[in-house]
Amino acid sequence: MAQHFPVQRTCPFAPPPEYARLREQAPLVRAALPGGEVWLVTRHAEAQRVLSGEGISTNPATPGHPNTLLTPEPPTPEQTAALQESAVGHFIDLDPPEHTRFRKLLIPEFTVRRVKELRPSIQRLVDELIDEMLAKGREAELVEDFGLALPSLVICRLLGVPYAEREFFQSRTRTIVSATEDPAAAYTAMTEIRTFLDDLVTAAERDPQDDLLGRLIDGGQLTHRELVGVIFLLLVAGHETTANMIPLGVLTLLRHPAQLAALRADPAGWPMAVEELLRYHSIVDWVAFDRVSVRDQEIGGQEVREGEGIFVLGASANWDERVFERPDEFDVARGARHHVAFGYGVHQCLGQNLARAELEIALRTLFERVPDLRVTVADEDVPAKYEGVIFGLKALPVAW
Ligand code: HEM
Repeated sequence: MAQHFPVQRTCPFAPPPEYARLREQAPLVRAALPGGEVWLVTRHAEAQRVLSGEGISTNPATPGHPNTLLTPEPPTPEQTAALQESAVGHFIDLDPPEHTRFRKLLIPEFTVRRVKELRPSIQRLVDELIDEMLAKGREAELVEDFGLALPSLVICRLLGVPYAEREFFQSRTRTIVSATEDPAAAYTAMTEIRTFLDDLVTAAERDPQDDLLGRLIDGGQLTHRELVGVIFLLLVAGHETTANMIPLGVLTLLRHPAQLAALRADPAGWPMAVEELLRYHSIVDWVAFDRVSVRDQEIGGQEVREGEGIFVLGASANWDERVFERPDEFDVARGARHHVAFGYGVHQCLGQNLARAELEIALRTLFERVPDLRVTVADEDVPAKYEGVIFGLKALPVAW
């Protein structure tokens, strides 16, 4: 019988418990969704195989692509048309060669070197946020005051959003991130942000600066609508993900004081600790890894037919005991860089170097500058987004 799907997490420190059983059962498991059936990919090797993109499409318009909204009916033609309009420039949903055209233009903006140049400004933003927190007293709520604020400010900096407009930008992106709580408000905020980004692109087209947007405009390869789509994608892909990892990182490191003490004693360990946090939490799971087979093929010993939908369980692959010993143990020294928390293959996260720098600088600086930091509620009372698309905490009350 097909596995009922989706299954939920039950605590902030592990993927859904059913994943271990599915992984044991087979590398590919059949699952029943409200709108049809899909293959679930449970193990690391097969996850990499599918995400490599060979014989696989990620485009929602490809026949058989699974419906990630999990509604019993497929989208109506009107809904599909609206989706296609907002999909212009949204290259995460495109297959090569269209995908390659966008990816090639964006790669130089996110290289290790380019991110290294950005590090001093990320450090400044982190320090300013901590200054504000410390100035307010001896308590804070880390999701709102720190986690959400940092990636939004970094994107503002990257896109050249004028300082005076940052508050508007931040409040709208915050509402979008809370989509599960108020879908109508999130939709309005999304429309407002798109208009805002459209105006930003128009202004940059009139007077291009030496920044990401200016360089894309000077390159002359993208239309106005494509440019708006591309920067919208950077915003949504880079915001909630990084924002959720920061408070999860704080909570997890505070639960492992000996490992935190080792990092304080030797900050050279931070990059490896960030990789382990990414693996351990695997906040981006099946919903981003929605694929469809475009030919009959064998994957992990299983015959997969053309037009059959696939969800890669990233959180299961990152806890695959064939690749990570004692995967349920958090170990900052394990060397977890081969995780698939940033995906793998053609669509592997474009912003991963930036995300790594943000996480490392945010966590290191917070623990350096607020050495007495503690969470003020018990683990079981920390509210988590179990129903969300990307896993994270709703709030993390702290004091010092
Ligand atoms: C901890 C933070 C982050 C995580 C866990 C994360 C995770 C991911 C994952 C799993 C994918 C692959 C999706 C797929 O295979 O379909 C992806 C793609 C992508 N990410 Fe990230 N991401 C993070 C931060 C960022 C940041 C900071 C940016 C940029 C500002 C960014 C931009 C993108 C883009 C543009 C893509 C699409 C790449 C493509 O399709 O070629 N991400 N991310």
